Amino acid sequence: MKFDQLFFFLFPVFFFFRSSIAVDTLAPNQALLDNGTTLVSPSQNFELGFFSPWKSKNRYIGIWFKKVPEQTVVWVANNDSPLTDSSGILTITPGGNIIITSTRNQSSIIWTANITSRTVSNPVLQILDKGNLVLKSNDNLDNYVWQSFDYPCDTLIPGMKLGWNFRTNQEWYLTSWKSPQDPSTGDFTYRMDPAVLPSIVLRQGSQIQFRSGPWDGVRFGGQPVMQQNAVFKPIVVFDSDNLYYAFENSDVSIISRFVVNQSGLVEHLIWSQTHNQWIDIAMQSDSCDDYSRCGNFGVCSFYNFLSCDCLSGFVPRKRQAWAQFDRSGGCIRRTPLNCTTMTGFRKFSGLKLPDTLNFSVNRSALNRLECEKACLKNCSCAAYAMTQLSGCMAWFEDLLDIRKYSEGGQDLYVRMPASELDSRKKSKRTAVVASVSVISFLLVLGLISWFAFRKKTANNRRALADDNPSQDINQRIGDENLELPVLNFITILDATNQFSFRNKIGEGGFGPVYKGVLPMGKEIAVKRLSKDSGQGLKEFKNEVILIEKLQHRNLVKLLGCCIHGEERMLVYEYMPNKSLDLFIFNQTKDTTLSWHKRLDIILGIARGLLYLHRDSRLRIIHRDLKASNILLDSDMNPKISDFGIARTFGGDQYEENTKRVVGTYGYMSLEYAMKGLFSMKSDVYSFGVLLLEIICGRKNSSYIQDNTINLIGHVWDSWREERALDIVDSSLNNSYDVNKILRCIHVGLLCMQECAPDRPIMSEVAFMLCNETRLPYPKRTAFIFNTASTTPYSKSASVENRSVNDMSITMVEAR
Ligand SMILES: *[C@@H]1O[C@H](CO)[C@@H](O)[C@H](O)[C@H]1NC(C)=O
Ligand SMILES: *[C@@H]1O[C@H](CO)[C@@H](O)[C@H](O)[C@H]1NC(C)=O
Ligand SMILES: *[C@@H]1O[C@H](CO)[C@@H](O)[C@H](O)[C@H]1NC(C)=O
Ligand SMILES: *[C@@H]1O[C@H](CO)[C@@H](O)[C@H](O)[C@H]1NC(C)=O
Ligand SMILES: *[C@@H]1O[C@H](CO)[C@@H](O)[C@H](O)[C@H]1NC(C)=O
Ligand SMILES: *[C@@H]1O[C@H](CO)[C@@H](O)[C@H](O)[C@H]1NC(C)=O
Ligand SMILES: *[C@@H]1O[C@H](CO)[C@@H](O)[C@H](O)[C@H]1NC(C)=O
Ligand SMILES: *[C@@H]1O[C@H](CO)[C@@H](O)[C@H](O)[C@H]1NC(C)=O
Repeated sequence: MKFDQLFFFLFPVFFFFRSSIAVDTLAPNQALLDNGTTLVSPSQNFELGFFSPWKSKNRYIGIWFKKVPEQTVVWVANNDSPLTDSSGILTITPGGNIIITSTRNQSSIIWTANITSRTVSNPVLQILDKGNLVLKSNDNLDNYVWQSFDYPCDTLIPGMKLGWNFRTNQEWYLTSWKSPQDPSTGDFTYRMDPAVLPSIVLRQGSQIQFRSGPWDGVRFGGQPVMQQNAVFKPIVVFDSDNLYYAFENSDVSIISRFVVNQSGLVEHLIWSQTHNQWIDIAMQSDSCDDYSRCGNFGVCSFYNFLSCDCLSGFVPRKRQAWAQFDRSGGCIRRTPLNCTTMTGFRKFSGLKLPDTLNFSVNRSALNRLECEKACLKNCSCAAYAMTQLSGCMAWFEDLLDIRKYSEGGQDLYVRMPASELDSRKKSKRTAVVASVSVISFLLVLGLISWFAFRKKTANNRRALADDNPSQDINQRIGDENLELPVLNFITILDATNQFSFRNKIGEGGFGPVYKGVLPMGKEIAVKRLSKDSGQGLKEFKNEVILIEKLQHRNLVKLLGCCIHGEERMLVYEYMPNKSLDLFIFNQTKDTTLSWHKRLDIILGIARGLLYLHRDSRLRIIHRDLKASNILLDSDMNPKISDFGIARTFGGDQYEENTKRVVGTYGYMSLEYAMKGLFSMKSDVYSFGVLLLEIICGRKNSSYIQDNTINLIGHVWDSWREERALDIVDSSLNNSYDVNKILRCIHVGLLCMQECAPDRPIMSEVAFMLCNETRLPYPKRTAFIFNTASTTPYSKSASVENRSVNDMSITMVEAR
């Protein structure tokens, strides 16, 4: 016992000599003065001490990341009672309370942790490696008497909780700072709402600003972003004692935090070593996240543009206001509901479910039909939904704050009068026209809620045109000398069985794709651009003219187009073998492609891309090259498709910057995902990813094995350790040309080098793939991190390599 005490006493002294700041504990006889002394957690992750926030002269006790050069405070003790000079002292009382006093008057307590419940024997205050400041008794080190994690400020870090402990009735929630220089309690709170179904709510004062959908067991309301990805793993505990949200970094070397900033923005930030700055990786925030943006029965969707729609079967409550972009009035039923007559339900998919205001959960309804029956029984039941975790949910009266996700989301069944449902087939055409007449676009710039209106005149003209949907389409598009056939809408309706869901063969970024058969028997694929794709007639025409000019055997061929009211459709040749992803990512492997075929496909894509970049009359950046955009004809020849977001560059233009990054995570180069900078080199990067996916038979964004977060990191590791063949798709059964496959992997790595100028251009890529020339050794590829266990990096190199931006753009598929 004596020895222990001695050791305890010596330990800090030893460190004091080595460096004056290497202690992590404070005992009752010690004090932390505001003279530059700090407590540092054992692995140097977090530091506690006095600080002044940006520009302020006030002094606070806070905890910040030790390894982040730009002081980033995650917790503040005396945020509401600052010291005005550096006279502060942090001590623990013999009874075990934490207090801040001032040297000028030791009896005046500036802040206290209020640990009054009991006295603590041999108390000790310690800063832990997770960033938790704990007070414990030296006699019982595992039991914390008090911990800073129980008193969150504006930041959530791994190990902290957001939610409730029902037994102790304790709530953990985030509160924003007042301003960057004032950490006192601000306006915004971010709390777990323990209603029937847990959801997370951001409020300004008492006003709801944002609501996540209800927790469904995997994520909140089907919100695609909050599910597990390369960087973090969400944890939700929901039982009789607890309801909380927490998260863990997928790797210990990652430094990340959630923060509610003073503008009420919830950011998920990751520290990037290479860029020396915090990077926001949760790009989910768009203006559709504003609470109830489109009013009652309105659906908000966001893809480049914000757009409000009424649920089908509903019309704007105030047509005039709606046309003037005031959508808050929401929508009403086109045909009022009358319970004494027949009613049914219409299914809407991919939604964030409405807010749970007038709402109930029926635990005894076990399946969807029972749930439907229960809803039918109550006249005021307006909609129901059935999810695995929460069971049968029913909404009464209003449906507020619905949004449409491009991926994920849940199904909602909305009650409709029978007349609406019966006439569905017949009115499909007219329904489009009717709902279109109330739609215009809000052009949304940036991720937050500032937006600009498109030119009013253009809107007016479009609004007029909408009033007369029968106007001859040829007249509208015919003024351009378009050589492309303009197909009749009726022909397309007949060909696709009125866009029957049985004919649906895919969902592109800009709308669903349907298979169709023309009267002569020719098979076509019809892409029905979604109304909110943000394209006006002019842009559409431009795109059609652009694609029409592209003629290459490795590009999918456009056969025609069709415009009907606000609907725009593109008609392509039909590809019987659908898309490449179905072959290379197929788990059952009964559709495995031989190595020979894979090489042909790789070369074909390279030629197609080379044509886009160099050989076509226009210089085109595809921007969304990925396996699902490579279609295969009956002979398995690859054809690049989906030019929805492609950009043409003028002759001497090589790089462009975009405000909104579109494309698919996992295929995006760093400079594009982080800075919106795209060029031919960002396409080259995507090509590299695609190439390695074809060889490995795995998706870059879903590869989690042996602690290596993504495929690219794994390939790079294997390559450096000269065992690159390990990554080759095992279903090839070693029947491939070793030299050729190594060459392909090598070229793939060259394409993915972090620095865009280092990457080859497509003509070089095509050359390198086909010729036995010497290849340069690839420089570091983007995406590498978390390799400490598998690669022999030196310590400092691995710190450099974990640069977080490298992986922040991996797994959340944008669409
Ligand atoms: C700060 O004060 C402590 C406690 O009095 C003392 O041990 C330490 O040396 C001082 N540090 C500096 C940098 O003056
Ligand atoms: C010190 O603070 C105590 C408590 O606030 C107060 O009663 C006392 O007058 C102060 N002493 C001086 C010298 O300011
Ligand atoms: C400590 O308790 C007092 C009295 O209940 C309260 O006024 C004060 O705000 C509490 N301080 C903290 C830091 O919780
Ligand atoms: C909050 O975060 C957003 C997005 O990063 C930023 O634009 C805004 O300036 C921040 N607000 C404050 C007050 O820092
Ligand atoms: C509902 O329908 C019944 C039968 O058609 C009719 O008698 C009744 O007036 C309707 N009620 C309303 C509120 O429209
Ligand atoms: C629906 O909820 C709102 C807000 O909670 C409330 O004002 C209204 O009375 C409710 N309506 C019904 C029918 O319960
Ligand atoms: C709940 O569902 C069961 C089974 O369908 C049904 O019998 C019951 O009436 C429902 N309860 C309510 C309150 O709707
Ligand atoms: C319908 O549901 C509401 C809300 O749960 C409830 O207040 C009302 O009593 C129900 N009506 C009937 C007829 O069951």
